[in-house]
Amino acid sequence: MTTSNMAQQLREAKHVVVFTGAGASAESGIPTFRDALTGLWERFDPAHLATPQAFRADPSLCWGWYEWRRLKVIQAQPNGAHLAIAELANRVPKLTVVTQNVDDLHERAGSRDVIHLHGSLHSPRCIDCGQAHTLPLPTDALPEDGRRIEPPRCSACNGYVRPGVVWFGEMLPEDAWSAGLAAAQKCDVFLSIGTSGIVYPAAELPLRALGHGATVVHINPVRFDISGQEHFLEGPASVMMQSLLRETFGDHPIS
Ligand code: OAD
Repeated sequence: MTTSNMAQQLREAKHVVVFTGAGASAESGIPTFRDALTGLWERFDPAHLATPQAFRADPSLCWGWYEWRRLKVIQAQPNGAHLAIAELANRVPKLTVVTQNVDDLHERAGSRDVIHLHGSLHSPRCIDCGQAHTLPLPTDALPEDGRRIEPPRCSACNGYVRPGVVWFGEMLPEDAWSAGLAAAQKCDVFLSIGTSGIVYPAAELPLRALGHGATVVHINPVRFDISGQEHFLEGPASVMMQSLLRETFGDHPIS
């Protein structure tokens, strides 16, 4: 498939779902999950830090990693893919953004009602009683070695505050999952952007969309195996989304 074949489908679409993974934020400088970590974190595997067990075993190490990620997100800007997705919502009758990302770059690009399947770096809560916690900006809290940070304590029960993200082995938030699933099953075009598609249940969404007759298109610079009914646009998210928008609606790129 080319962006011009896709343009026709988009012009006729009544409901578009944009499903994003870490690759959609990669061009904003946020490392993906399968990228080797660099610098202070090079010895750690993200999959081992993103678990309830990791937090219980070493709260300061786990919290320090999430604060480092939160700082990176605060310093980052939405890229051309986030902006094109927000613009696409103005051009089609209905568009739903469903993301696996825990950053807020879709919202900062102008997307509304974003469904966050894996929670958010910006909504920490008590690990014991669940009370929401407000965090200051992380810059002045980062210690010199940038690594371990003692998590704050809950003002209600003195439990540790944990990141508001979904960890491996945890359930997805029920309302986000049912909204994502409903959108996937009702849309006519499903764009899956920058995800390795290996983490379930999120990775089920493109299959559900396909099962309900949607055109499913994967956008990724690294080709992977897909079924004969799905489509692939090979390239970075920002380039492909900007060119898709241009082909479909014939105007200038968004920056
Ligand atoms: P991954 O890190 O698994 O995959 C990122 C994907 O983005 C890969 O397929 C890359 O090829 C692709 N990519 C890299 N640069 C890109 C670019 N410029 N444009 C488009 N794509 C690009 O991230 P996710 O699929 O999001 O879960 O991972 C899914 C979940 O696993 C995450 O939400 C997280 C993780 O562990 C939890 O924390 C529960």
